[in-house]
Amino acid sequence: MEFSVKSGSPEKQHSACIVVGVFEPRRLSGTAEQLDEISEGYISNLLRKGDLEGKSGQMLLLHHVPNMLSERVLLVGCGKERELDERQYRQIITKTINTLNETGAMEAVCFLSELHVKGRDIYWKIRQAVEAAQDSLYTFDSLKTRKAELRRPLRKMAFKVPTRRELPIGERAIAHALAIAEGVTTCKNVANMPPNICNPAYLAEQAKILENDYDNVTTTIVGEQEMEELGMGSYLAVGRGSANESQMSIIKYNGAGDDSKPLVLVGKGLTFDSGGISLKPGLGMDEMKYDMGGAAGVLGAMHSLAELQLPINVIGVLAGCENMPGSNAYRPGDILTTMSGQTVEVLNTDAEGRLVLCDALTYVERFDPELVIDVATLTGACVVALGAHATGLLSNHNPLANELLNASEQSGDRAWRLPLWDDYQEQLESPFADFTNLGGKEAGTITAACYLSKFTKKYNWAHLDIAGTAWRGGKNKGSTGRPVSMLTQFLLNRSGQEQGE
Ligand code: BES
Ligand code: MN
Ligand code: ZN
Repeated sequence: MEFSVKSGSPEKQHSACIVVGVFEPRRLSGTAEQLDEISEGYISNLLRKGDLEGKSGQMLLLHHVPNMLSERVLLVGCGKERELDERQYRQIITKTINTLNETGAMEAVCFLSELHVKGRDIYWKIRQAVEAAQDSLYTFDSLKTRKAELRRPLRKMAFKVPTRRELPIGERAIAHALAIAEGVTTCKNVANMPPNICNPAYLAEQAKILENDYDNVTTTIVGEQEMEELGMGSYLAVGRGSANESQMSIIKYNGAGDDSKPLVLVGKGLTFDSGGISLKPGLGMDEMKYDMGGAAGVLGAMHSLAELQLPINVIGVLAGCENMPGSNAYRPGDILTTMSGQTVEVLNTDAEGRLVLCDALTYVERFDPELVIDVATLTGACVVALGAHATGLLSNHNPLANELLNASEQSGDRAWRLPLWDDYQEQLESPFADFTNLGGKEAGTITAACYLSKFTKKYNWAHLDIAGTAWRGGKNKGSTGRPVSMLTQFLLNRSGQEQGE
């Protein structure tokens, strides 16, 4: 879809549809007021008759409004004016897009960007609107033989800015949003792909596509033979039960010459997590195709970054692997030697993510990173703690944690910090090895992060547990594209390009 910004008044718009807000109870927004005057009370008349209360998400489509150049006017209920917050704003935009898609209007001018959202400026409102629009227009139908075609889908949308002066800010918001949306779409596409197609080699192919599409991106693949030479004993163990080779993709984005230390993103890429010998129960096991959501998020963020061409250096690592049972599979009781030299006693082969990540986290030391962020669908316990709303955040460096929390607030892709106190470390003690891979039933998200922290002592590090946020189950099953927008926001902030600058 195409987006643009406009500064003209509503009656001057020559569009298939004009979108304006109405607050509860039956109160016109500024723009709706203007339209009402021009149309000689047409809109206020309708409201008086009770056609629209203004409750959040209510829609009323009008044709042939008197004295209007536009064919239609869509009145959008925005709830109580003083209660309009970020979440509601996004929901209203999503509803509007879905409604417009079902009307015959193929283009629209949207005045909802003029609404007052507490603490948010025009850059934020337009960026969120474009991201929300692209998010709701997404479909994954590449494997359906019959695709549901919309007869007259929305193709163009313009957002109103107050005056001409804000036009460049609005354009910048659109550019940022489109770059983020591209990364989000990439993330969703690979994450939704079934595990018989999306295996570690497929992840590597996607990483190679970025190299082909952008001059300052290079991708290399580390296969099992090289992992063997590097001593990545724990990563390799997890993949041993699978016929699909473990492959780790290294995507290097160079935007700041060779002197600037890279920011490193590492994504858990379990293209299927059956649990291995500690096999998972059957119900809902298909959803473990999403256990590569961390790698998909990193790939998506790298895509957004390359689209934005930010002046920083970033390395994205996709730790591709498949966890399967079999006669060659690793077992509970096995003791593995990690790349760091530390040994780990496997108490449950379903706690595999940390075994893959720990070697990837040791591997990235060679890049002398400025900081490292890993992203992983790591623990069911995180879903219990935070549900589907917030990503779990744990870190060994307070400033980094705060930067990520800021980015999550700004992007609306929320995260919440959990502690990483040493008190929890004893849950990982082992009688036979340096530690185990299992922390017991208490504080599972924290003990998983404690495990990783044993491998991240040499740099500033944060861990994002996206087990609850990476995908939706049930009837709207599908990847959410999270945390691409949080990560991209973090990178925008890091390169001093946040907001309307
Ligand atoms: N990929 C899972 C975590 C997961 C489970 C994410 C459900 C989203 C929904 C991970 O590999 C796993 O199996 N974790 C175990 C760890 C346990 C054995 C310590 C878990 O959370 O049950
Ligand atoms: Mn598992
Ligand atoms: Zn897993």
